This record gives sequence, C-alpha cells and structure tokens, in this order.
Amino acid sequence: MRKPKQLSREDQEKLDSLTRNLEKELEHFIGYPCNTLFDYSALYHFLKLPLNNIGDPYVPTNYHINTHEFEREVIEIFKKLTNAPKKSTWGYVTNGGTEGNLYGIFLAREMFPDCMVYYSEDSHYSVNKILRCLHVRNIMIRSNPDGTMNLDDLRETIKIHRDVPPVIFANIGSTMKGACDDLLGIQKILKDLAIKRHYIHADAALSGMILPFVDKAPSWDFDAGIDSVSISGHKMVGSPLPCGVVLAKKEYVDRIACGVEYVGTLDTTIMGSRNGLTPLFLWYAFRTIGLEGFHEIIQSCMNVAAYAETKLNALNRHAWKHPNSLTVVFDRPSPTLVSKWQLASKGSISHLIAMPHVTNENIDELAEDLAGEKQDTRKNRNYPSTVRRSL
Ligand SMILES: Cc1ncc(COP(=O)(O)O)c(C=O)c1O
Repeated sequence: MRKPKQLSREDQEKLDSLTRNLEKELEHFIGYPCNTLFDYSALYHFLKLPLNNIGDPYVPTNYHINTHEFEREVIEIFKKLTNAPKKSTWGYVTNGGTEGNLYGIFLAREMFPDCMVYYSEDSHYSVNKILRCLHVRNIMIRSNPDGTMNLDDLRETIKIHRDVPPVIFANIGSTMKGACDDLLGIQKILKDLAIKRHYIHADAALSGMILPFVDKAPSWDFDAGIDSVSISGHKMVGSPLPCGVVLAKKEYVDRIACGVEYVGTLDTTIMGSRNGLTPLFLWYAFRTIGLEGFHEIIQSCMNVAAYAETKLNALNRHAWKHPNSLTVVFDRPSPTLVSKWQLASKGSISHLIAMPHVTNENIDELAEDLAGEKQDTRKNRNYPSTVRRSL
C-alpha cells in the first residue's frame, strides 16, 4: 500500500494554529457543560484500530473488532447510578444526549403508537426535531419561570387528551436553568386521572451525572418511575468525542429488536455502526476516578457554583441556581463578554456552568470583566424578580 506523505509545512502550521486557538479558547470555557479535565492518552493506541460497536452490546456479533465488553461495564455502572433494576434494564453507549432522547421517544412511540408527547418550553431544542422525525403528536407545556414544567398546565392538557397514552419528556436538569421537572408531581397527575398506559422519559443530559452524587437529590431516576433515561458522557465525565448512555426497560427494547444476518447480531440501537472508542473513555474514567472520585468532584463543583452565585450577586447580576445544579443563571452581559466566556444565552439571561475545570479564579476574572463593562440594560423578559426571591 502506498505510504501517506508527510504534511506540508503549510498544513502543519494550519494544525498548529488550530491547537493554539483552541487552547486559548479553553481558558474562558465556562458557559457549556463539557468537562475539559480528562486524559485518555493511555488509550491512544486504540486509535489505530477500526473499532465498531455495531449491534446490541449484550449480543455476540460477527464483527469482532469491538469494545462491547467495556460498553456493558459502563452500562452496568449507569444502571447503579440511576437505580435501574439490574435484570430488566437494558442500555447502550450513544453519540450523546440527543440520541438517547431520540431513543427514549422512539421506544415510547413503538409501545404506544397513538401517544401524545408532552414536553416543556425549557426542553432542549433538539426535542422538537426528534418529535418531527418520529412524527408523533406532541404538545409543549408551559414552564414556570424557574425552568420547571408547569404541572397545572400539564394536568389540564392531559385531561383534554385522556383518550391517548401520555408520554412525558421530563427535564432532569434543563439546558438553560438546570431545572428538574417534578416526577412525583407528574406521577400524581397520572394517578389522579387514572391513566394506566403512560411512558416517562428522563432527559438527564448533565444532571444524570450530578444527582447520584448529591445528598438531597429529588426523585429523578428509575425509583421515581421513569421508563428510560438519557445521560451525556462528554458533559460531566468528559470525553474528546461526544457520547452518552441511554437506559430503558428491557421489555420496550425487546419490542423493537430485530435480527440482522449481515452482522449476526440484534439491531436494537438507533445507529448501525457505533463508536467503539467512547465506551473505552467512559470505562477508563470510571476505573481511574471511581464513584468516590466523582463524588468529590461534584462537591467541589458545587462550591465553585455557590461562589459564582455570591460573586455575581455582589455585582447585582441577579444570579441564582437550583439547589442541586451547577448551572448559575444571571443577567445577560454584553456581546463581548458573552463571546469571550462562551456564555450560553437565551433572551435576557446567560449561564455559566461550574464544570470541574472551572475555578474560583475564573469566576473572579469573569467578575472583573463584568464590573468593567456597562451592564446590558435590556429588561429581563424571561425571569421576573418574584422568582428570584422565591428561589
Ligand atoms: C438537557 C439537555 N438535553 C439534551 C442535550 C443534548 O445533549 P447532546 O449535546 O449530548 O446531544 C443537552 C445539551 O446541552 C441538554 O442540556
């Protein structure tokens, strides 16, 4: 085989310049929930292999260059973290939170083809696209100002459509405000209305790796009656490639499974070819950091989040956060600062997320920047001050 030639000097310089730019951007990376503190260099040699986790990780396949064994171990860890019944829960490593959400709603629709999906105004933007792809009927439920689903609106809306099974897409840590929908309240509505056929999917993209490690977590997992859950891997665990896990009750997965002779396995996943490296990253992180390690990391992130809330409030930026969240919401600053600190923003609010690489020093520097700029004078449209006081 012809040997690839070396990169030209120009091409090499282009790559070097990219590295320098990315390293510079990382210095102010506080607005998105991606942990940058990982080192998977012990796994570099796996980059030389055509790893492919095609098929069901729990079923042998004819494609042997895979990491299914490690994928299964990762899934078993997430089962523990979500209180999933060991035998009756199934899962796989996804390309990220969005795929896990697509999978959850797919299972729900296959179970209840005439269902109605309810999700809130604060759900991740991709939910709308998922619902369009799956072509399921759906209704957006109003959110409370703190980002949680408004259960009065949910109750009244379900009442009108009592003839079809409800599928609840619950935010467990919403994208902008870190809000957790009240699963017990949702269950109560279903019980009050005597609705027996229903499905609850939990979108726990970030908080699925936070709530298992806090002392007073709300009810959010399989113990709270969910049917499936999606958690991102590149967010709190950290990974150079986007990834995540989805867990679901096995009985639903069995309904969609079909045998594929070409690869000699069961087709139970959304994708055909699947990433074989990301299960290794997740496995490596859990083996080297451990659950105790993640517990410490989350506690330390909580301290930074609390520090940020206090510091920004000293500057009158109306900062607040939910008790078990690392997402600190505050008044949207100038476009210059939004860009410098890569602050995710919507309407009149921005947020920072105290991921493991975010330090008190970062917060001090942000505060200095904020003190030095003229505050954005737009009125806060999304977030009335009454809510700030009630939190
Ligand atoms: C609540 C929530 N759900 C889903 C997603 C999508 O996750 P991913 O980017 O891993 O596809 C995000 C991403 O930020 C999110 O915050």
